[in-house]
Amino acid sequence: MSSRLVELKNITKSFGNVNAVNDVSMVINKAEIVGLIGDNGAGKSTLIKILSGVYSPDSGEIFIRDRKIEGRWTVAKAHEAGIETVHQDRALAVQHTIARNIFMGREITGRLGLIRVKKQYEEAERLMREIGFTSKVFTPDSVVATLSGGERQGVAIARALYFEAELLILDEPTTALSLTETQKVYNFMLAAKEKGSSVLFISHNIYHAYDIADRFVILDRGTVVMQADKSEIESAERLVQHMKDFARAGHRAPG
Ligand SMILES: Nc1ncnc2c1ncn2[C@@H]1O[C@H](COP(=O)(O)OP(=O)(O)O)[C@@H](O)[C@H]1O
Ligand SMILES: [Mg+2]
Repeated sequence: MSSRLVELKNITKSFGNVNAVNDVSMVINKAEIVGLIGDNGAGKSTLIKILSGVYSPDSGEIFIRDRKIEGRWTVAKAHEAGIETVHQDRALAVQHTIARNIFMGREITGRLGLIRVKKQYEEAERLMREIGFTSKVFTPDSVVATLSGGERQGVAIARALYFEAELLILDEPTTALSLTETQKVYNFMLAAKEKGSSVLFISHNIYHAYDIADRFVILDRGTVVMQADKSEIESAERLVQHMKDFARAGHRAPG
């Protein structure tokens, strides 16, 4: 069996005359963390919305475990294939508890269709432990509004893991966070990888992404301008330098 979980081939998507994603090809292997990096407007969210079935591409192909997707790729099919996405614009229901948020819309029910609250509590407790919610202050009954930004991302990640994500897609999980909070989210991501999930996470901070990612895909105005394994790059500074060299080579006007 190949190590490939997902392959995108020549994916293109326009909105009117905005070419948001242009001929993008990339691979996500099993149990690896891929950092998808690019400035605002680079097409990152559009690309992951295509992979998670929210948008149909104008052209291009999606392969899951080496099998080409035929017909319309939808959110439901992506879920079935083990792709769980935490969208940038999709907030948690902050007035509800951690447990409620983990199971929202996909509750554990008994034979009569009643929600099994105790079971959900226990499962939430297990998940929180597994992904490393170390604070003793929080229980599955804690209201999400009382959590920090990093911990909220943890709840979203726990939710994805409960539904057995083989690929966890996180759209800018750390953008609004302090360094300490960012580190928490990274620890949650590492826990997911440890459990065998792959993670595709979006960031516009290379310095942050460098520490955690096994591989980098750099998107610039809809186009992949660089893909590299971490082992091929000595430091975050080198990665930034590569990008600057690329920009100087004429892809983009200075400034
Ligand atoms: N639903 C949409 N309708 C029209 N234009 C869109 C839509 N979504 C994204 N775009 C445009 O596509 C480009 C890429 O956006 P996006 O994928 O959100 O970038 P990123 O996530 O990298 O910031 C931007 O120019 C954005 O304005
Ligand atoms: Mg975005």
